[in-house]
This record gives sequence, structure tokens and C-alpha cells, in this order.
Amino acid sequence: MPVSLTTLRDLKQRGEKFAMITCYDAIFAQTMSQAAVDCLLIGDSLGMVLQGHDSTLPVSMADMVYHTRCVARGNHHAFIFADMPFMSYATVTDALKNAGDLMQAGAHAVKLEGGGWLAETVTQMARCGIPACVHMGLTPQSVNVFGGYKVQGRSADAAAKMVEDAKLLEQAGAALLLLECVPTPVAKRVTEAVSIPVIGIGAGPHCDGQVLVLHDLLGMYQGKPARFAKNYLQGRDSVKDALSAYVQDVKSGTYPAPEHGFSQ
Ligand code: KIV
Repeated sequence: MPVSLTTLRDLKQRGEKFAMITCYDAIFAQTMSQAAVDCLLIGDSLGMVLQGHDSTLPVSMADMVYHTRCVARGNHHAFIFADMPFMSYATVTDALKNAGDLMQAGAHAVKLEGGGWLAETVTQMARCGIPACVHMGLTPQSVNVFGGYKVQGRSADAAAKMVEDAKLLEQAGAALLLLECVPTPVAKRVTEAVSIPVIGIGAGPHCDGQVLVLHDLLGMYQGKPARFAKNYLQGRDSVKDALSAYVQDVKSGTYPAPEHGFSQ
């Protein structure tokens, strides 16, 4: 059975975890399907891991459409998310046009970075049949505002704002949320505050789903590995075995372990 938004909502309701991995081409999409990965994300991290940039900012809509088409061709059953790149959703009009292009390229949902200010955008997307996942916390497209890749939501005020934004976005029609580099207790509060599924990366074990960048999962790091990275290829014979082990660990709650998360 193909994974759908309904599958992900049901999993949350039953308290069962789901696994997502970033994917950029057809052969990995096929291998991830064989490894029973629930969700594939065509992340704009491709600007760093594939294109060699030092941020995600140079990634274009054409890049994202191209890689979404490649992944969709190799995919069998997973639910596909495609990232909206930097400045592709600065206005509601741009957001609808660009999200539509990603859906036509084979995405089942789009992901965009921000907070409460995206409420009107996600409402209009939902109206047009486009499920939106809002990426909160450390949003890499805002690295120049943050002054680096830093944990977000550590102060009491910032944590409360994150919970409020999450509720607002759910009410506005967001289909999912994704939290990156958020203290474990804050991610738990957000996940419990909404009924839509919440995916985490560097956000502790309480989120409904987990995502890892493919290259981090295969031990291919650009410099120092992120705290939440785990090399699943180590001690295994094949990429497929590594992917399957990650899926199993997410579903059993073994990954992420406490050391992969951040304190408040
Ligand atoms: O672009 C990406 O790979 C992402 C993940 C880090 C969640 O947004």
C-alpha cells in the first residue's frame, strides 16, 4: 500500500513512528522503497551535498523540479516531500505557482521554512490541494539571520512562540510540521500540542517521525558530523541494509538516542 497523508496521520494517532530520508535520484528512491522507508524528502540540502555549496541558498526551482522528477520515477510506495527553495514562497502567488510545479513533478507534499507568518500561504495551498509541511526551528535558508547553524527555541519565550506558531499553522491548514535542531523538551511540547504529524531532525525522540540526510546516514560527512547524524553503513554490507536498519531503529524508538538530541 502506498504511504499517504492519511497513513501518516493514523500512525501519529496510534503512537507509531515513521521514517523519512532525503533522496535526490531514482536509484536511491528505488532502494529506499525496497528498505520500506515511509517518506522521501527531496531536500534543498542537495545544494550542499550534491552541488557543493556552503548553504542551501543557491538552489533554484529548476533544480528542485529536476530532482523531484528523478525521485518520483524511482519511487514505489513512499510519500514524497519536495522542498521549496529560498525565495520561492516569498509571496502567496509565488508560493502557489512554485508548489504547483513541484506537485506536477511528482511530489505529494511540499515543505517550506518559517513559522506563523506562513499561515495564509498554507491556507491557500490547502485550498488548492497542496499539502504543506512547515519546517520550523533551525531553518537553514535563514542561516544569515541566525548567524550560523544554531539550535533554536532554547529560551522560554522562543519555546512558547514555537508552540503557538505550531497551533496557528495547524489551524491554518498545514498538513505536517518539521522541527530541526530544537531542544528535546520543546519538540515534545510541540508534538503534543498539535494533531498533525511532526517530523524531527535533531529534535529528540518524541516527534512522530524522524528524518536524516542520506549522506549523514551513510557516514559521508562534510566536515564535523552533526550531533544527530548516525552512520548506519558502519558494520553493514550494503546501502539497503543501512537504510533498513535506520527504518527499524526509528520504528522501535532506538533512534534518536538521548545523545542525538539537545537540552533546553
Ligand atoms: O533540505 C533538507 O535536507 C532538509 C532536512 C535537513 C530536513 O530540510
